[in-house]
Amino acid sequence: MLKKVAILANGGDVAGLNAVIRAIKRTAETHGIECYGFIDGYRGLVENNFIRLDYNPLADGILPKGGAIIGASTNTIVFHYKVTNPDGSVEYKDLSDLCVENYKRDGFDCIFTLGGDSTQKSARDLFIKGINTIGVPKTIDNDVACTEVTFGYNTAVSVAQEALDRLHTTAETHHRIMCLEVMGRYAGWIALESAIAGGADAVLIPEIPYDINKVADSIRKRIARGKQFSVVVVSEGAVPINGEASTVNADIGQGTGISRKFSGAGEKVAKELESIVGLEARCTTLGYMQRGGTPTAYDRVLSTKYGAKAMSLAMEGKFGVLTVIKNGKLDCVPLEEVVGNNKELGAVEGGTEESNIRFVDLNDELVTTARNIGICFGD
Ligand code: F6P
Repeated sequence: MLKKVAILANGGDVAGLNAVIRAIKRTAETHGIECYGFIDGYRGLVENNFIRLDYNPLADGILPKGGAIIGASTNTIVFHYKVTNPDGSVEYKDLSDLCVENYKRDGFDCIFTLGGDSTQKSARDLFIKGINTIGVPKTIDNDVACTEVTFGYNTAVSVAQEALDRLHTTAETHHRIMCLEVMGRYAGWIALESAIAGGADAVLIPEIPYDINKVADSIRKRIARGKQFSVVVVSEGAVPINGEASTVNADIGQGTGISRKFSGAGEKVAKELESIVGLEARCTTLGYMQRGGTPTAYDRVLSTKYGAKAMSLAMEGKFGVLTVIKNGKLDCVPLEEVVGNNKELGAVEGGTEESNIRFVDLNDELVTTARNIGICFGD
């Protein structure tokens, strides 16, 4: 009998986190189960810091609210946890046993892990160590393996589409090339779908290395047809043929080796297009606008479905799984499948070559649709 469950949110915020929290909490209330939230993701589990959510007025009215009422932490890996000693020196420790101890001592029956590929990697590892985890796939990048869609993605696409509508007017009025850089480090879903929704002329995604001259040619053809402007969507992880993604060094991985921050892809494309085509070019980087704020109706429904399903799985005693959408329907898959080849317990996670990221399939109907209507991929 399930008595006491907890939720944690890990990684970057997305719209819909609170909608998932609400759905889990309400399903728990319906079935007389206590529901808690760890504060700031895995950090709360390490520090044994949690609040009660069921019948707590603080957790009411949260469906339209951006962010997560229980906070979230990024790059927090309990197997490689940054500890600052009293003398100021820094050490990385495996605190997973402490997490298991906390979980057992407080009598939790299950933890719902709301997060992307690296969060679910830790959930798989903690499941092996004895914590009943159930993952819920969260990321605006839409790149979690084994599911057709993650929550937060639809809102991010809508924000990018609105930005494209607005950039179109400047492009047209000033006869410019307007580039919009959107998020998506390894997978170009946001760029691709927002390019279609926002009527862009070209889209550059990590899965299709681009030749800037091909993009320039497509813009020149538009100019020849009397279109003195173009709109280009650039995924932050876009890669030129025989080149590298635009990154800067940044210590964002807590010593795990994750030290690349994606930055500058859109500016680079704008600069190159301006010099090749001769039209003025500008770049707008959408950044965190895509993650914050209220979820779309689609994300509210998807998040609610994911949350209620996660709680149902817990009541059935199905742990070590991820809630997914498969063939358009709610389902679940073992976290083991989600982790892919990144099997080593506590291994550096997220964005590694072994990570099981869901890339844009080059035969995906979104790609063929975009090509059919003449959107240039720079290939
Ligand atoms: O993983 C989602 C994501 O939105 C990426 O597309 C982006 O590169 C990253 O988060 C940035 O997150 P932060 O700056 O919070 O580490």
